[in-house]
Amino acid sequence: MSETNEHSRLFLPSKSSPSTSTTEVTISWSNLHVETRNSSSSCWSSISSSCFRRHKKKQEKSRILLQDVSGTARTGQILAVMGTSGAGKTTLMNALSGHYGDNLLVPSGNVYLNGFPTTDTERRKSGHIGYVEQQEYFIDTVSLEEHLIFQAMLRLPSEWTDDERRSRVKNTIAQLHLNKCMKNTINQLSGGEKKRLALASVFLTEPSVLLIDEPTSGLDSYLAMHIMGTIHSMAIEQRK
Ligand SMILES: Nc1ncnc2c1ncn2[C@@H]1O[C@H](COP(=O)(O)OP(=O)(O)O)[C@@H](O)[C@H]1O
Ligand SMILES: [Mg+2]
Repeated sequence: MSETNEHSRLFLPSKSSPSTSTTEVTISWSNLHVETRNSSSSCWSSISSSCFRRHKKKQEKSRILLQDVSGTARTGQILAVMGTSGAGKTTLMNALSGHYGDNLLVPSGNVYLNGFPTTDTERRKSGHIGYVEQQEYFIDTVSLEEHLIFQAMLRLPSEWTDDERRSRVKNTIAQLHLNKCMKNTINQLSGGEKKRLALASVFLTEPSVLLIDEPTSGLDSYLAMHIMGTIHSMAIEQRK
């Protein structure tokens, strides 16, 4: 299925024009269920005089990571998912964004965009969902600005001109208060600046639905407040 067909099937416009404002998108999910695949693993349980002795393979039971989870987030709304470590927050984000990244997991249930059921691929390719993962990986030797220009080349539609991309990068840098360190290489950035850079990489595309895993982890309380303020302003902007 081509991307255009995917968009028309979902009744969502494609994000090709730089002036297109963020599309109103309601994301909802029902009966999401994720469990690990049954697997056989080696059991190393006894030690002979100089080496481990391998016992016969044993069947590991599958483990439920998410069980019948349902919910909705509307345009302009901020929804916080809270839970203890290991509760399944990241698993839920992966499921909603369509990024499982692990074929050892067995997902089921539905995720809808504006009421239409979607596949993982459709959500990943729609351009309407941005996902900031907890751990981002960067090339240490490029500058913050170069990183964002590269991200703009990858993430923004091919119809955009270089000037339009640069202008979006400039605005995003200002939005996340990264001007002071935009010429620094990534290995010269503080933890908080790296976190904001990860957010900036996704903010570039102005996604309608923004999934952020642990948005304030590793930030001091001032920066955490600033990031939450930025997210709040973006949500208010969408309500207009
Ligand atoms: N690919 C996987 N295979 C097996 N267990 C997993 C996998 N991914 C996550 N888990 C387990 O699922 C549980 C939920 O993980 P996660 O969603 O990362 O929790 P949280 O983000 O709330 O801390 C944890 O116990 C974790 O060990
Ligand atoms: Mg997590």
